[in-house]
Amino acid sequence: MEVIVGPDAAAVACRCAELIEQLVREKPGATLGLATGRTMEPIYGALVERVTDGGLDLSGCRFFALDDYLGIPHDDPRSFRSVLKRLFLDRAGVPAGRACFPDPLPGNLEEEAEAYEKALAQAGGIDLQLLGLGENGHVGFNEPGSPFDSRTRAVELCSRTREQNACAFGGDPSRVPRLGMTMGVGTILEARRCLLVVTGSAKAKVLAAAVEGPPTRTLPASALQHHPCCTVIADEEAAALLNDRDQYRAAFGSAGASPAATLAAGGRGR
Ligand code: GLP
Repeated sequence: MEVIVGPDAAAVACRCAELIEQLVREKPGATLGLATGRTMEPIYGALVERVTDGGLDLSGCRFFALDDYLGIPHDDPRSFRSVLKRLFLDRAGVPAGRACFPDPLPGNLEEEAEAYEKALAQAGGIDLQLLGLGENGHVGFNEPGSPFDSRTRAVELCSRTREQNACAFGGDPSRVPRLGMTMGVGTILEARRCLLVVTGSAKAKVLAAAVEGPPTRTLPASALQHHPCCTVIADEEAAALLNDRDQYRAAFGSAGASPAATLAAGGRGR
């Protein structure tokens, strides 16, 4: 696991966009896994800017959403599908057919989860998976207790997650859907590269546990310690409780390994 620490959320977003652009230059047909959440918003803004400036061409890429709520319509502005389209895909000119979303209907949750896994496999797997971190240590909607070999499935959301996400639902956690569909921890671990992006002081404690504590299913993000090519990109506030901050800051300034070269080398161990 590589950890790099930048000064603030804007610098972190810029570095993420740079890494993604580098990957797409090396592999124009790359498949990208997309997360949602406030952390991702400046990253999508930075990517859209690069597309608009003409430096980044996403026309050959495919996209898979990491997770979504169940129980609200696809076109509800709070669904992750709507959010990804609004903040990123539509603004970056990605044609509808290049982006896949879990498409569950009541009664076919298991079939849809299997179909999503199949679509991922048919696309050749994910080259780079963007991930945010829940305050309870979740990645996607893999809540504490999720097995490290779990696959795409319907899950019940923890009360902490519903509180964390309540702002999109008028601040009322009881209005946040109770269920979600998420790629599993095992699915995520199969991505060729993972970028875990963490900003803000509210995540400092959970980030330190996920990165420097023992891997445990009570903290699903800690599974990423087992990933051969995972980069954690944090800002100063989120990194406040990490022991090796100086080293991580220095790594942020360096050019960093090219994603494709890192992949060819089999990734970097922790
Ligand atoms: C939601 C999503 C996660 C995301 C997390 C972090 O719960 N399911 O995929 O990582 O929020 O959100 P934020 O960036 O808003 O803190």
